[in-house]
Amino acid sequence: MRILILGDVIGQPGIRAVVSALKGLVRDHRADVVIVNGENADEGFGISPAIADQLFKAGADVITTGNHVWHHDDIGDLLNGNPRVLRPDNYPGGAPGSGLYIHEGRGGRVAVINLQGRDRMPAIDCPFRRARDILKRIKGQADAVVVDFHAESTEEKEAFAHYLDGDVTVVYGTHTHVQTADERILPGGTAAITDIGACGPDQSVIGFDPAISVRRVITQLPLRNEVAANAATLHGLVVTTGEPAPRAASVERIQFRSLI
Ligand SMILES: [Fe+2]
Repeated sequence: MRILILGDVIGQPGIRAVVSALKGLVRDHRADVVIVNGENADEGFGISPAIADQLFKAGADVITTGNHVWHHDDIGDLLNGNPRVLRPDNYPGGAPGSGLYIHEGRGGRVAVINLQGRDRMPAIDCPFRRARDILKRIKGQADAVVVDFHAESTEEKEAFAHYLDGDVTVVYGTHTHVQTADERILPGGTAAITDIGACGPDQSVIGFDPAISVRRVITQLPLRNEVAANAATLHGLVVTTGEPAPRAASVERIQFRSLI
């Protein structure tokens, strides 16, 4: 099975690029399943039902998110109404939605798990223990297990990948929006990368207008970031499954420059 994963879609430039390029990427990479992180899709903060629809129509099978998913007050309706839109599972009990979806498609069954780190992030439940709980729950139900670990800290992300080595197909980081060049297969057979990068404007500071970002750091005022208005590059990963399940056979980093 070939799994195509795209990083955080940032605002209209990111959405436009996904809508125009994803079908071609699926064809070129012979992808059986597509997973996209949509937590920054709505002008940089959160996701709306209309944007989720756009991403699904563009070819996404499952949408993962992160801490910004809560930006819209009515996000619960989307999360509870569409099980293919995930939020980090390790938010304390009572939060709407779920961080687990088992997709059944061409290549087989893929469990998609969305979790969030705690280092320089909200103090939510332990992602390590939650991952173990979920894996116990879904034992035997999936041919591949894909984990979007939405986290700030490189150390926490690498520790998390090693913690799950051998028990999942891939652990990939999201949230920091800049693709890291450390994709590899760990000794137990799990593919890992610290951050797959974003689907957002090229001339930007993590997707946002550089002029505002520079003013923010210089003045230390809480200026609101705005998505930069220029063409986006799609960053992501292609993982192929190997034997025995849930091992990865290969992992390839991708970058695709959109012209719109
Ligand atoms: Fe993000």
